[in-house]
Amino acid sequence: MKQNQKILIVGAEGQLGSEFKKQLGALNYDYLAPNEKDCNITDYNQIKELYKSFKPTITINCAAYNAVNEAEDEIETAFKINHHAVRSLAEVNDSFGCKLIHYGTDYVFDGKKMDLYSETDSTNPLNVYGKSKLAGEQVVLNCNPNFLVFRLSWVIGRGKQNFLFKLSEWAKNQSVLKISSDEVSVPTFTNEIVKLTLSSIKQDLSGLYHMTNSGYASRYELARFYVEQTKIKNLIIPVAMSEFKSKVKRPLFTAMSNVKLSSELNTEIPNWRVSLVNFLAES
Ligand SMILES: NC(=O)c1ccc[n+]([C@@H]2O[C@H](COP(=O)([O-])OP(=O)(O)OC[C@H]3O[C@@H](n4cnc5c(N)ncnc54)[C@H](OP(=O)(O)O)[C@@H]3O)[C@@H](O)[C@H]2O)c1
Repeated sequence: MKQNQKILIVGAEGQLGSEFKKQLGALNYDYLAPNEKDCNITDYNQIKELYKSFKPTITINCAAYNAVNEAEDEIETAFKINHHAVRSLAEVNDSFGCKLIHYGTDYVFDGKKMDLYSETDSTNPLNVYGKSKLAGEQVVLNCNPNFLVFRLSWVIGRGKQNFLFKLSEWAKNQSVLKISSDEVSVPTFTNEIVKLTLSSIKQDLSGLYHMTNSGYASRYELARFYVEQTKIKNLIIPVAMSEFKSKVKRPLFTAMSNVKLSSELNTEIPNWRVSLVNFLAES
């Protein structure tokens, strides 16, 4: 199967895109991972030319506008990248007979369920980022039901767009760190996301799946576990999310169930603590 596939990685410079480059390279896949200058998803003509020349059979779209706070002021930009460009990307993939794999977010939910979210639960995003990402996943699956959308949460890999990186930076300047204990989801590691995506390609899955590590945690629990595993000596204090004044509404409990994906792939997805320990060992 691998031999006759050509994979295009879009958004290749982000934390997830970088992990794809690492693993596809090690596994000898035929792939192209252009930078944003050569593959800007808002540039329809550039994207079309890329498909004509590279002729991919699978596109993995890791590109996104992820600035949750800034999105409240940059509504147009958030929708341009997370919705309109994704629709064009889906249409180009469809017209070239190429399968599109796209990533969504737990922020499509309002956090009020107080149980793990499944793929059949109703969405109700509270902020601009969540709304733009929901619009994006919908255009992908409406364009072609054979495409794949994986909803992720709290993505952690080698990059700066994640909580553990930010925590390490805060720890350099403040001895005591206040971290929310009522904001709960599933820390999910890029290493695992790439492995599960490649297995899903092999099994030719399509449609919508929640792709998370197993278990769940508050930001506080994640921070405590992280400092216990590292040399960070800062005191971590649990506080309510409402302590942080912000104009962006964030959902409280958005942990998603990965049962649909793990049973389709017939695999047990590791607990986030196991993946965190592995992540540190590889760093
Ligand atoms: N990070 C999380 O906690 C999280 C949570 C849930 C879901 N997700 C989803 O997971 C996926 C991967 O996220 P990630 O954590 O790897 O994000 P990331 O590190 O921010 O990577 C996204 C990449 O997309 C690039 N990009 C932005 N606009 C683009 C455009 N017009 N054309 C091409 N590339 C563009 C970004 O470049 P710049 O840096 O130059 O903008 C960045 O390199 C995304 O769909 C994201 O929404 C992430």
